[in-house]
Amino acid sequence: MEEDKLKIGLLGLGVVGSGVPMILKEHAEKIAQVTGMDISVKTALVRDENEKARQAEKFDIELTTDIDDILNDAEIQVVVELMGKVEPAKTYIEEALKRGKHVVTANKDLLAQHGGKLVQLAQENHCDLYYEASVAGGIPILRTIANSLAADNINKILGIVNGTTNYMLTKMVSEGLSYETALSQAQALGFAESDPTNDVDGIDAAYKMIILSQFGFGMNINLDMVTIKGIRGLPIEDVKMAARLGYEIKLIGSAEKQGDSIYTEVGPMLVKREHPLAAVRDEFNAVFIDSSGVGESMYYGPGAGAKPTATSVVSDIITIAKNLRLGTTGHMFNSYKHKTKITPDNQVMAKYYLSLEAADQEGQFLKLAQIMTDANVGFDQLVQNQEKNESQTARIVVITHTVSKEQMAEVIKNIKATSGFKLLNVMKVLGD
Ligand code: HSE
Repeated sequence: MEEDKLKIGLLGLGVVGSGVPMILKEHAEKIAQVTGMDISVKTALVRDENEKARQAEKFDIELTTDIDDILNDAEIQVVVELMGKVEPAKTYIEEALKRGKHVVTANKDLLAQHGGKLVQLAQENHCDLYYEASVAGGIPILRTIANSLAADNINKILGIVNGTTNYMLTKMVSEGLSYETALSQAQALGFAESDPTNDVDGIDAAYKMIILSQFGFGMNINLDMVTIKGIRGLPIEDVKMAARLGYEIKLIGSAEKQGDSIYTEVGPMLVKREHPLAAVRDEFNAVFIDSSGVGESMYYGPGAGAKPTATSVVSDIITIAKNLRLGTTGHMFNSYKHKTKITPDNQVMAKYYLSLEAADQEGQFLKLAQIMTDANVGFDQLVQNQEKNESQTARIVVITHTVSKEQMAEVIKNIKATSGFKLLNVMKVLGD
């Protein structure tokens, strides 16, 4: 029996883009069997046809620099957007949906900022919109939350969802590299975005946590509702001190439910060496979920790269192919919805790591103890580096008891206002 044909229009033939025809070809037999369809890329939108001519020939793809060649082609039923950035990707996806084409995208920036509107547009046009590859590349995490954990109640999602910063932190911990050297290495290896600002400042991870929060808690949050801190300029002294105390510093995205509200945050956090997230090294990603039914589970794998990300993209294409055969297109990827509510600061609880420089004068410890006592914040650990540095200041590190974000803000404000102290760093300590 001859298989139905499913033709794809591909927007972007870069690293991930060229992985799509590669996976479709390499795994053709299995894909044809599970979908009952012969799936292929018909046309790819590129910036420069000459530059991509070899790939086009290899995979038998037509190239174009005109989006209308894809949008107006009735044979193309699925548009796969792998260009990145918001525009023109947003306009192209909107136009594709308006013409009744199903869409697959890996664009986290776009989904985190305009996902709600695109989902609505897909619904209005009875189209599928899938985006598994937008979070944690090759890890099938969105489908796992939407399908496999549909019966569960998720309490907390902790993610290492930025490979660039995880690679950098791994090198800083294991090889004592400085922040700058680690960043240059990550860029040379191609993990970082073309402009690594979004990686090192935590924005890329925040976009991914916004999408994870939609799936895990049904809430539509935006970037303003996420507390974001990156690893830019993270001092190697804090990395070493954390290691001395039994922790690894990781850039963690955390979304936690309390009652009917959530708190979402991205920042460098201290993770106990025994925690499964501490074992996630180099450019790898992981999403750790605490839920009422399953308990603790962790999903680990490559968060970027041509083949892993393209595999997720093709899994979305396969889902659409199955939906087309069954006549079930037009359902949402994530249908869980809950009223959005953000936990107030006085209810966001955590332990904190503080590092500060204290002038070499009497009574500094007493002053610090007073500041903490005034905010009702207790010490768990207090360490002072014995050796004074050139400026004759001592470096003090404190790990607090579990306190509220509001209490911590008061401590920070008072330390900054007290002479003889220079606050160097504040990081959350993940629960043991
Ligand atoms: N720059 C991203 C990262 C790529 O480092 O994880 C994958 O989204």
